Amino acid sequence: MTNYPVTIDELTLSHIRKEEQFGAHNYHPLPVVLNKGEGVFVWDVTGRKFFDFLSGYSAVNQGHCHPKIIDVFVDQARTLTLTSRAFHSEKFAEYTAYITSLFGFDKVLPMNGGVEAVETAIKLARRWGYKVKGVADGRAKIITAAENFHGRTLNVISFSSDPVAKDGFGPYMEGYLSVPFNDLPALKQVVQDPDVVAFLVEPIQGEAGVVVPDEGYLREAAAISKEANVLFIADEIQTGLARTGRMLACDHEDVRPDILILGKALSGGTMPVSAVLADDEIMLGIQPGEHGSTFGGSPLAAATAMAALQVLIDENLSENADRLGKLFRETIESWQHPHIAQVRGKGLLNAIVINHDDDKAAELLCYKLLENGLLAKPTHGDKIRFAPPLVITEEELQNALNIIKDSLSVLQ
Ligand SMILES: Cc1ncc(COP(=O)(O)O)c(C=O)c1O
Repeated sequence: MTNYPVTIDELTLSHIRKEEQFGAHNYHPLPVVLNKGEGVFVWDVTGRKFFDFLSGYSAVNQGHCHPKIIDVFVDQARTLTLTSRAFHSEKFAEYTAYITSLFGFDKVLPMNGGVEAVETAIKLARRWGYKVKGVADGRAKIITAAENFHGRTLNVISFSSDPVAKDGFGPYMEGYLSVPFNDLPALKQVVQDPDVVAFLVEPIQGEAGVVVPDEGYLREAAAISKEANVLFIADEIQTGLARTGRMLACDHEDVRPDILILGKALSGGTMPVSAVLADDEIMLGIQPGEHGSTFGGSPLAAATAMAALQVLIDENLSENADRLGKLFRETIESWQHPHIAQVRGKGLLNAIVINHDDDKAAELLCYKLLENGLLAKPTHGDKIRFAPPLVITEEELQNALNIIKDSLSVLQ
């Protein structure tokens, strides 16, 4: 049984014990057992209420159990959930038209979890490389950024630079080159390799600790890729869908990726729904039988995704994220707290970097936040990501900031 630096009630402990005994140990959750969510709040089995400042790793941008999304989800679940793509479905047809028109691409390829969409984008890019760019079969290379996080499949961890995600799972897939994130000269050099077909990048590196590149990086990286006849693939699984104060993080720099990857909040946190968007030259490289998924594009996923996207638009969640994100960063900066080295981010995707001799300081702070009613998790040791649902109001944000300020007293 894990040892926690806080006292935990027996009911909570009984659930944790059960999960530790019967569930795999591939996560290290905070010692809180949740059983209800609404908007920006979640409740635990003892009835305690918390601000959720993780939002299911940004899958719950629209807030927990958003009534409009849940209504559509339940209605559709009662009507038709799954046809498989062996047959057409009314909702999938409607969804393809809706999402491609919203994001301005010729076509969409639906998948489920985020990493599946990343794999799909890589297959599309390789296929484009062979069919359109003229790369010799089996030689396509894809450039990725150091410290990236694109998911957990064997292929995707093959280009991870995080030993925790990668070590001990070899052999790895070939065909990847790495450049430091936010390093345009390095990218300019590597794209010259004629076998390079794509540059895959997160507009802001979320899991690495909300690392925001210099202004102009995305625009330049896209231009460098275009000039070298290399596809620019934006993994907006975490940064997309209003999280950073625009519908896409790429919109901050008016960049239109050649391949756009979406996931997480595409279902408002109800079920795994991901999507890859691209134009015909890329998308039609894949023909029937060459790629697919039993659940991808199901009527349930299609209906839910349309509702989830419409909520982002109807409730102006990009604008809210933009405005409250600025307030969040300005307020924390104004504290000039000796143990906060930096607050950084865009919109409501933010992180603080802790400056403390104790390398467990970020973890300690998260325990204190939990005790005081706010859920957040450290990422990469000394950073804490703060990413509340985008439906948060200014008053709620002020209350959450007060909790963060009070909790900092734990760092002496
Ligand atoms: C940028 C990015 N890509 C891909 C993924 C993987 O998504 P999933 O966990 O749904 O497979 C994540 C998950 O955190 C992510 O942040």
